[in-house]
Amino acid sequence: MTRAHVIIGVGGGIAAYKVCSVIRHYTEAGHDVRVMPTRAALNFVGRATFEALSGNPVSTEVFDDVDEVAHVALGRQADLVIIAPATADLMARAVAGRADDLLTASLLTARCPVLFVPAMHTEMWEHPATVANVETLRGRGAVVMTPASGRLTGSDTGAGRMPEPSEIAALGDLLLDRADALPYDLDGVRMVISAGGTREALDPVRYLGNHSSGKQGYALARAAAQRGAAVTLVSGATSDPGDPAAVTVVTVDSARELQEQMSLLAREADVVIMSAAVADFRPVAVADAKIKKTAGGEPAPIELATNPDILAGLVTDRGEGRIPTESVIVGFAAETGDADGGVLDHGRAKLRRKGCDLLVVNAVGEGKAFGTDDNTGWLLASDGTETVLPFGSKTLMASRILDVVASLVPHGQVPSST
Ligand code: C5P
Repeated sequence: MTRAHVIIGVGGGIAAYKVCSVIRHYTEAGHDVRVMPTRAALNFVGRATFEALSGNPVSTEVFDDVDEVAHVALGRQADLVIIAPATADLMARAVAGRADDLLTASLLTARCPVLFVPAMHTEMWEHPATVANVETLRGRGAVVMTPASGRLTGSDTGAGRMPEPSEIAALGDLLLDRADALPYDLDGVRMVISAGGTREALDPVRYLGNHSSGKQGYALARAAAQRGAAVTLVSGATSDPGDPAAVTVVTVDSARELQEQMSLLAREADVVIMSAAVADFRPVAVADAKIKKTAGGEPAPIELATNPDILAGLVTDRGEGRIPTESVIVGFAAETGDADGGVLDHGRAKLRRKGCDLLVVNAVGEGKAFGTDDNTGWLLASDGTETVLPFGSKTLMASRILDVVASLVPHGQVPSST
């Protein structure tokens, strides 16, 4: 998007220090950023920090700049509001429609997407009052992120940790691209997603690998979890996109380890997405000790064995009742055109060959798809439907893929399209 008006509301919690990186992300992207701390937030981060980072004056009060009617104007012109950390108190005030500071007053005039990023102690997050408030906010169309589990203030751990700034920024950017990208429509859907590349060991220090960054699979996991799905991410090697909040991450190395995890986890899944780049071959033998250079000699050839096709295996498992028969299975295909046909022709043939319900087809090569932040392609369905996935961030692509997935799963609802 061109220069957007972004309000960053900051609640009074220790996680306020982390929001500084989110402010920076939006100013560096060239957006107009207004920081609106609550009075309590200024106990954690000072006004000068927020003013320096945003390049705009910072106020907590409705009665500052009364001549400019800031509480009406700033909310009205906003394209995105992010509230991080969203404390239990701040969400309760938003639910009640209070307008006793500049932030809550602006929330009443804003008509753009609002992203609440809760951060609080586990007991507060799980309290029925907070649970009801979150439900109300979601019911009104706000996006309320499910927090991460992990270290809270002090030595306690549990659900309630604020997601990392990069994740908040990824979802905020998604909402700027597409206001209705994160409906809460996958609540109760169990999803298993593979991502990243496999590593096939040669000896204790070497492996055969590939350039998969894992970004597309991680983006799917992140967006699905924030749409309410219970997501397990089975991750091979990645360029470390960071664990998504509210997602269970299982790490694997080789294709056979990935297969073991996928066939196990798919037994309890409504949706299985294979976005991992699985090595087709592995060395037949893994040396116990590092393979040594021979003095001036030729390297020994590496004999390869074919890896199992995990995706095709999952389709067979479903056909034979080992995983739920009504589950939805999604594959990925990174294709290049050649003398036998274009990218889409190869994708159509692959969908038939693999037998999955949906296939995401990307064009690769010349810097496309692998390792990049943007992507484009098609989503082919076994019923012949073909959806263009327009060029955009991998998070945007993930949201469009999940729209189609949500329309196919038993619990999913079809979200409105833009
Ligand atoms: O045949 P191709 O490797 O292009 O197929 C890609 C799709 O198949 C991806 O969804 C990938 O995760 C999956 N795959 C697999 N097992 C393999 C190779 C690919 O599940 N051995």
